[in-house]
Amino acid sequence: MAVVNQKGGVGKTTSVINLGAGLARHGKRVLLIDMDPQAGLTSSMGKSEDDLSVTVYDVMRGQAGLSEAILRHEAGEWAYDFIPASIDLEGAELELKDVLGRELILKEAIEEIRANYDYILIDAPPRMTVLTVNVLVAAQELFIPIQTEYLALKGLSLLSASIEMVKQRLNPKLEITGIMATIHDVRRSLDLEVLKKIEEHFGKTLFKTYVRTSVALAEAPSWGKDIYEYSPKSQGAKDYEALTLEVILQERKRRK
Ligand SMILES: Nc1ncnc2c1ncn2[C@@H]1O[C@H](COP(=O)(O)OP(=O)(O)O)[C@@H](O)[C@H]1O
Ligand SMILES: [Mg+2]
Repeated sequence: MAVVNQKGGVGKTTSVINLGAGLARHGKRVLLIDMDPQAGLTSSMGKSEDDLSVTVYDVMRGQAGLSEAILRHEAGEWAYDFIPASIDLEGAELELKDVLGRELILKEAIEEIRANYDYILIDAPPRMTVLTVNVLVAAQELFIPIQTEYLALKGLSLLSASIEMVKQRLNPKLEITGIMATIHDVRRSLDLEVLKKIEEHFGKTLFKTYVRTSVALAEAPSWGKDIYEYSPKSQGAKDYEALTLEVILQERKRRK
């Protein structure tokens, strides 16, 4: 599954981490992949550039396999794996310019470790680059977080067009399986209005759970923790737990 939206600050990284941690808490084997050169997921896991040896950048350049880049996040009773990124990933776009089949690198790398996990969640960069195309080619399902604010719907047509293109040419199985309303402020009537529009637009693909604005969700990354470690009783933990259950349920239905 990939969490995509070319808009920054909509809750992609937060969702990958806390949905992933939620699934791990339910006993699932989970891998998170940071595909954003800004490496928000990596730093939210408490890792800085200096801690890293092998990253997804080495994988994209064909210099390492994904299994060599795996790090483990232990959170007491649950744990999950993640693949870190670093700022040099930014250079991958230019470096891959003349590489044949450059859109398929991540997909092929995932094949090696796919059988070891129940869920692989990919955090996409906030731009439409060759990295994002790699994410769209590697994924089977897409989750799109959107903020319930006035301009939220505007960028979505561009995103839909890119998804459609990848679907036609490179990954016919790709599907948008969930729209997540994130950073939703229930006290703001504007949020409710936009939410109504999103509901009209996406119908059933919209998750029932809205992730509300929660300070704990914004604080947890600076401690290198997921929300269940940092503040298990917070609103944020409750919302992501509800979202996790929806995802597990959705998966069960799909398999039938
Ligand atoms: N529900 C929420 N409530 C409050 N802050 C949030 C929430 N979700 C995310 N944030 C914060 O908003 C910022 C952007 O979120 P992030 O997940 O990094 O977005 P993206 O990956 O799409 O750029 C981060 O500082 C994050 O901690
Ligand atoms: Mg991010």
